[in-house]
Amino acid sequence: MRGEAAQPVQAWVDYFRDLGIHDFYRPGGPAPLAGDEALEAAATPAAMAPLDLAPLPGPAPVPAASMPDRAAALLAIRNDIGDCTRCPLAYAGRRKIVFGDGSPTARLMFVGEGPGADEDAQGVPFVGKAGQLLNNMIAAMGLARAEVYIANIVKCRPPNNRVPEPVEANTCSQFLLRQIDVVGPEVIVALGATAATYLLGVKQSLGSLRGRWHACRGAKLAVTYHPAFLLRDPSQKAEAWKDLRMVMGELGLKPPARG
Ligand code: URA
Repeated sequence: MRGEAAQPVQAWVDYFRDLGIHDFYRPGGPAPLAGDEALEAAATPAAMAPLDLAPLPGPAPVPAASMPDRAAALLAIRNDIGDCTRCPLAYAGRRKIVFGDGSPTARLMFVGEGPGADEDAQGVPFVGKAGQLLNNMIAAMGLARAEVYIANIVKCRPPNNRVPEPVEANTCSQFLLRQIDVVGPEVIVALGATAATYLLGVKQSLGSLRGRWHACRGAKLAVTYHPAFLLRDPSQKAEAWKDLRMVMGELGLKPPARG
């Protein structure tokens, strides 16, 4: 297999190599294949507010809309954000606002924590090392990255990649919620504890949230490990794969054909 056609399969192979699986067999085949987002807000009492654990408002009904309508609705949200100064992250060295990436009609949406250095430079979520792993996870699910929608709890990079402060996440989340309502995914995957906390309005251990379905804005929500965590602790990739299999089952997805 050559060129573009080989890329999804290579990503799938890369992901399984990361999982420690190196030998691939064609069913009935003879030999194993060679193998892997203001200071003014900061001055308000809200800035001192503790983590807002009230469930996020909603869910809003999602009207069936065409791809161009949803793309236009997403653009309207981006325009509302503007050159945002609503929270302190606007003054913390941000280069680009990282809005979101992917299909406006995606059945599956991934939500991370916040942009890192690569994302801040490019204005696109998950384009660094963690993004490469996320791409491989998506490919292993039998999907192209362009088929899903990817966004973060905050759209500006927290300095030194720290966890977003509650005032930052709670200020920014209105835009993420609007994105979710426009795209109307069947399934949302919360990548890591920050995404899970703000999407579900509960602060619980990742372990207690994984392996079961939650509800968010009319979508089913699954919780899994953040790809950056998986890069630090690859031994958890098999557990993450279990979470993705649960999502695949819900969406009727099969891993891409081998060979
Ligand atoms: N980590 C995240 O949570 N989001 C990104 O976009 C990149 C890294």
